[in-house]
Amino acid sequence: MQSNITANEIRKDFPVLQRKINGHPLVYLDNSATSQKPLQVTETMKRYYENHNANIHRSVHKLAEEATEIFESSRKNIASFINANPEETIFTKNATESINLVAYAWGLGLQKGDEIITTIMEHHSNIVPWQFLASRGIKLKFIDITDDGLLKIDQLENELNSNTKLVAVTHVSNVLGTINPIEDISSMAHNAGALCLVDAAQGAPKIKIDVKKINCDFLAFTAHKMLGPMGMGVLYGKKELLEKINPFNYGGDMIRTVTKEGSTWNDLPWKFEAGTSNVSGAVGLSTAIDYLKKIGMENVREHDKNMMQYAIDVLSTIKGIKIYGPLTAENRSGALSFNLGDIHPHDLATILNDKGIAIRSGHHCAQPLMERLGVPATSRASFYIYNTLEEIDRLAEGLEHAKNVFKIE
Ligand SMILES: Cc1ncc(COP(=O)(O)O)c(C=O)c1O
Repeated sequence: MQSNITANEIRKDFPVLQRKINGHPLVYLDNSATSQKPLQVTETMKRYYENHNANIHRSVHKLAEEATEIFESSRKNIASFINANPEETIFTKNATESINLVAYAWGLGLQKGDEIITTIMEHHSNIVPWQFLASRGIKLKFIDITDDGLLKIDQLENELNSNTKLVAVTHVSNVLGTINPIEDISSMAHNAGALCLVDAAQGAPKIKIDVKKINCDFLAFTAHKMLGPMGMGVLYGKKELLEKINPFNYGGDMIRTVTKEGSTWNDLPWKFEAGTSNVSGAVGLSTAIDYLKKIGMENVREHDKNMMQYAIDVLSTIKGIKIYGPLTAENRSGALSFNLGDIHPHDLATILNDKGIAIRSGHHCAQPLMERLGVPATSRASFYIYNTLEEIDRLAEGLEHAKNVFKIE
């Protein structure tokens, strides 16, 4: 990492990385599922509960005032991280809920015959909410990938038409690691008169996000994959759109007035935040963002690229391995999926676990992509700021060991 903070220094902030698993130092390579949390994040959340806890936006006492201030200043910090305004930055419980918010609040206004385009490389969170709309008469189309794992942009160009209302695309694939050209995709969608939603659950942890530059209409991400706590997510939406659409959840905090006859809605962003909010989650995400900013997002991405290229180079030399997705780190981030001979990914993950190495095996919540790749499952190693090149060597040794166990040449 070209930074004054090296992966080895960073590791001191993550006590879990000191653990031994089955007698071996833990090699945590399941970061696309969730990242570990630094002490700075867990301690700030603890301090919040120990010193300031109160319900926000309601009471006038000192603690409530402090909690509200902490919550709203966290929002400002989180908004500025993606170059958004605080009123356009809605707190949810995860990326999945952010996308569901759009499907319900915006999508239920669509008409029969309207079309939504997504891609074959999406996580289920960016497919199933659109299938819900498809069950109500909306046409759902999928853009395919090339055999190298890149999105077929010319197919998108052909599928866009005056009925297209939304292009919903992932920034980074959680299986292939492919980085999609989201600025181009957003502009293609707009040229056709459609909106663009970006699922940045895998992109935001590693690549600088600027919603104004991307010019997307909605963007979803989730705190737990970027050093923050679970149960905390964000939906960015353009103000003019958010003002027009209906709320998602109804109840306390999201109203301006309630009478027996009906209700009016609060201002943005609170119109979309019904009920008691996850204050410690907001503080945790804001602290995680401070941590990433201190390293510098360019350095985070540089490290990501170095790890990825090294992993591709080292793992490619293993006889019998099949790596899925682009073979250059330039258009790839975070996740490296592969199969080794005919070893089932679950067996492989179990053998690696014996050696203290944590990877993910399965369909990775991307079953349509598995079908496209022609496999039921893959193994996936995924990296983050605290991983080292030596850990990739340990993974390679673990894979050679698995081949011996299964007597594969
Ligand atoms: C690309 C992508 N989108 C969305 C999600 C869903 O994130 P969450 O479970 O935090 O809602 C994931 C989680 O793995 C993901 O990888």
